[in-house]
Amino acid sequence: MEIVPLASAEEIAHLAADTIEDLVRRHPAAVLGLATGSTPLPTYRELLRRHRAGRGPSYHAVRTFNLDEYVGLAPGHEQSYLATIHRELTDGLGIDRDRVHGPDPADLVTAGQRYERAIAEAGGIDLQLLGIGGNGHLAFNEQGSSLASLTRVKTLTRRTRADNARFFGSIDEVPHHVLTQGVGTILRAEHLVLIATGAAKADAVAAAIEGPLSASCPASALQLHPHVSVLLDPGAAARLARLDYYREVYADKPGWQRL
Ligand code: GLP
Repeated sequence: MEIVPLASAEEIAHLAADTIEDLVRRHPAAVLGLATGSTPLPTYRELLRRHRAGRGPSYHAVRTFNLDEYVGLAPGHEQSYLATIHRELTDGLGIDRDRVHGPDPADLVTAGQRYERAIAEAGGIDLQLLGIGGNGHLAFNEQGSSLASLTRVKTLTRRTRADNARFFGSIDEVPHHVLTQGVGTILRAEHLVLIATGAAKADAVAAAIEGPLSASCPASALQLHPHVSVLLDPGAAARLARLDYYREVYADKPGWQRL
């Protein structure tokens, strides 16, 4: 795992945006895995800022796949993750909505298989951006999720619903069920880029990176992947026992090496 301790959320946004742009320049038809929640928003704003300034690559041939989706929201609900990603990123980058995908809650019996097939038909995800839940969840794979799981329906914990209540009027409006890529789906992506900011994520980050591999911390499954980059601000990195070592390794990294 490549642990990258950075000075601020802004530095994370810059490095994550560099990494995405770099991929799209090399592979204009790249398949991007996108995360929602608050953590990736500065990265998305940075990508949009560069794009609007005419400095970004062309995204016309890019395809995107969201990690997850709520079940039970009215179609087009502004808090659905598909509507969110259109609004926060893909519309602004000029990616046609036909090329922007998310798990489809219309038919829950077939939704998981259909999503897995769609990702496979696109050739797999080249770069998957990830956040982490305060309890160590990855996408919406709550604690206890199989580390081999594929896209399916999950039930949210009360804690995750409370964490996400800020996007809705109240916790009562946060759906109980979701469709999410499984941990196994996420592990199939070529490059995983996990970003975490703030002290509220410190315990989950430490458990994911330095704790035992366990379904009790679904994000610990990242330890199984051959190409993971973890971008952390000081708050999120605060509980890492080997922080000094990660700093040393990253400081030594030659500039020509990409994440
Ligand atoms: C949500 C999302 C995850 C996200 C996590 C953290 O539950 N499904 O993909 O990583 O919460 O969100 P935030 O970045 O808002 O802290």
